[in-house]
Parts: sequence; C-alpha cells; structure tokens
Amino acid sequence: MRAELARRTAGIAAVAAMLVTSGVVIATTASPAQADGSTLQDAAAESDRYYGTAIAASRMSDSQYINIANREFNMITAENEMKMDATEPSQNQFNFSSGDQIVNWALQNGKRVRGHALAWHSQQPGWMQNMEGSSLRNAMLNHIAGVAGHYQGKIYAWDVVNEAFEDGSSGARRNSNLQRTGNDWIEAAFYAAREADPDAKLCYNDYNTDNWQHAKTQAVYNMVRDFKSRGVPIDCVGFQAHFNSGNPVPNNYHETLQNFADLGVDVQITELDIAGSGTSQAEQFRGVTQACMAVTRCTGITVWGVRDTDSWRASDTPLLFDGYGQKKLAYGYVLDQLNTADGGSSDPGDGSCSVTATRTESWGDRFNTVFTVSGTDDWVVRISTGSGQSLQNSWNADISGTSGTLTATPNGNGNEFGITLYSNGNTSTPSASCSAA
Ligand code: XIL
Repeated sequence: MRAELARRTAGIAAVAAMLVTSGVVIATTASPAQADGSTLQDAAAESDRYYGTAIAASRMSDSQYINIANREFNMITAENEMKMDATEPSQNQFNFSSGDQIVNWALQNGKRVRGHALAWHSQQPGWMQNMEGSSLRNAMLNHIAGVAGHYQGKIYAWDVVNEAFEDGSSGARRNSNLQRTGNDWIEAAFYAAREADPDAKLCYNDYNTDNWQHAKTQAVYNMVRDFKSRGVPIDCVGFQAHFNSGNPVPNNYHETLQNFADLGVDVQITELDIAGSGTSQAEQFRGVTQACMAVTRCTGITVWGVRDTDSWRASDTPLLFDGYGQKKLAYGYVLDQLNTADGGSSDPGDGSCSVTATRTESWGDRFNTVFTVSGTDDWVVRISTGSGQSLQNSWNADISGTSGTLTATPNGNGNEFGITLYSNGNTSTPSASCSAA
C-alpha cells in the first residue's frame, strides 16, 4: 500500500507534498482529492485490495450497466454463467459461451475473474440432480476438470465448493446428493480443481458464516482448519455476505474474518448485498468494508450486482447504485472507508482541514497517539486503527468506537487530542482523516 501511495504521490508531488519526520506524518491539504481513489477499484487498490461485482451476460449490452461496471470494479464474477447447469447442460457436453463472454470482457478490460462455482447442490443441470453415488462423484470430478481446465490460467480464485453446510445450530453438512457421495467430496473437489488449474486460488464459499458465534461459522472454520492440517489444497474462504434485517452485519465480523485468516487462508467477501436504504444501509456497508480492511488477508470485496434493479433481490435495494445508475449514500461511505487506507500515515480527508498523527509514549501493551487538527475548530476526525488494536483511553475529544474506525469530535478542549490504544501485538500508528463538521 505504501508503494501504491508513493506512486500516486510521486505523480502529484507538486500539489501534495508530504513531510515525514521521526514518527510524525503530516499530510497537506493542497490537493487531497488526488491522493484518494475516486472509484471503488482505485480506492481499494490503495490498500492492494480489489473491488468486484457480479456480472450477468444478458445485461452486458446495457451501456449504463457496462460503463459503471468497467469504471468501478476490477474483479468480476459471473452471476450464473459459470455454474454447473450453465457450463454442462448435458453430461460431458460443455457450453462456455456465456461464461466466456464475461471472462473475455473482464480480461480485455484489465480485470481479474473469480470463478463461481464448480460444485454446489443448487443450479445443477437436470441430468445431475437425479444422480447419486459413485457415478455422481465421477460426474462432479469430470465437471471440475472440464470447467476449471477450460478457464485454466484465467481465474484469480475459484469457488470450488459452494454452500456445503446446514443452516441453524447443527453445524452439520448439508444433506445433498453430493454430500451423499461421501464426506470427502469437498476435499476431492479441491484436489480436482488444483489439478485442473494449479495457479488459481481455491476457495470454499458460503453464507450465514459471518457471525463468529454461529454454529455454521464454527463448522466451516473447523473444516478449513482440518484441511490446512492435512494439506488439502485450500487457499481462501469466501463469505457471501447477503445481509438483511433477519441476518444483519454482525458486530464480530472482523473477529470472524481474522480467525479464518489466522488459519493461513485468504478471506474474501464474495457476494455482498445489504437490504435497506439511506444511512442505516450505508453504515452497514461501511462496517463490512472496515472489517475487511482490518484484516490483512482480506484481499477484496465483491458486491452481487451493479444497480439495485440488477440484484437478485431487487426489492431489497441492496446495492451501491440505484436503478438510474446513480451512486447511493452507501457508495460514498464505502469509498470513504476504502480511502482511509494509506499505510498508517495521515490522510487529507475532505480538504477543509488537516490532521497530523504523532506517536508519543508507549508501554508494553499500549501506546499513545496525539492528533493535531488545523483548518477549522469544528472538525470530525476519523481514526483507522490497526488490526487487533482497541481504545483504552482518550483525552481532549469525544471518541466513539473502540476498534476499527474511531470517530473523534471536539469536547471544548481545543484542537489537540490524544488516544491510548492497546496494541495487541500491532504497534502501527493509526491513520486519521479530517472533515469539517
Ligand atoms: C443467484 C443469482 O444471483 C440469481 O440470478 C440466480 O437466480 C440464483 O443464484 N449464493 C450464490 C449465488 O452463491 O450463486 C447466488 O446467485 C446467490 C446465493
């Protein structure tokens, strides 16, 4: 992320000078907009992450749709076109026409592709739905060889197995025809995918796995831990992240993502959509973004469609663009959150004020950072703390939040304030950005 910032900063050195002295980082406000990404993909790239969307081949001729997709996103998932029913409509007769249309468009436009999905109980072709036992197991392996083989070298990450666990409190595998071929069907699928495309990252992908307390989350975690310990080739875990009032963004999302990452896999948010509107929806989108950014191995976020009207749940208006292709409030919150990443230095914010972050005292388990605001007396400073860090104490400002992004506002004690953070093994200086209130 520093390299990316340095590249950008070098290009605009004349307008945005940065002074770095021992532990003190000052960001000027001369031309703050140029340091921040103005699209989702550019803002995500500031921290070496991607920002993706699902694409439907049938919508690619809609110029508004394809223009937004091209401008904002740099990781592409085929919404349906690479699934089992689409790619193998008759047994051993593969059809890649729609999948290829999406993959070719993505690669021609400099984007990467997430492959979705090689083995799943849903959207199976009719011929497969009634199969069982070893003939089904062989058909699944043949399918993986055919599809992953066809796209070999073109896929960043494959969802090798999708949704293999039961909802609810059982923590059991979902009872599907694939499961009935034997409990080792998931690892067999991963071995087949590795053989067909050795360079693609191989992911397990599921939903309702966001809350660390949920049995399903624990069950998937235990499977991944077991796979890692036995050398089954798994590289990543995808969190679909379809949220609504019955399944809200959990407070412990960061903990979930971090715990999986600590098993030695990448984590990705693969199908994000959040029912709702306005500030409440925007805050939830920000929370998800923040949770991913707090985890080094969270490599990117994909939203499940471009405009609300393109969504599989259109009536939930769950995406970042409205039906007219206009950016929603949630878009701004996501963009801002992505732009808080700048390698632990200060961030110019909206240009109406600036803030410096200076590291001062430190102890074994915690350290102080002092912030000085200039440009206005009526400020809001957003502080991005590092992974694992949490607030222990503060002075001369009102602070909300304890980890992730903290928000500081004046409490009548002037324009210099401070915080003490528990480092929890992470002693990086938090970054801060300032806006006028
Ligand atoms: C959905 C598509 O968005 C719909 O167009 C289709 O009718 C059904 O599938 N989990 C997944 C995705 O992994 O493939 C699903 O996509 C949404 C839930």
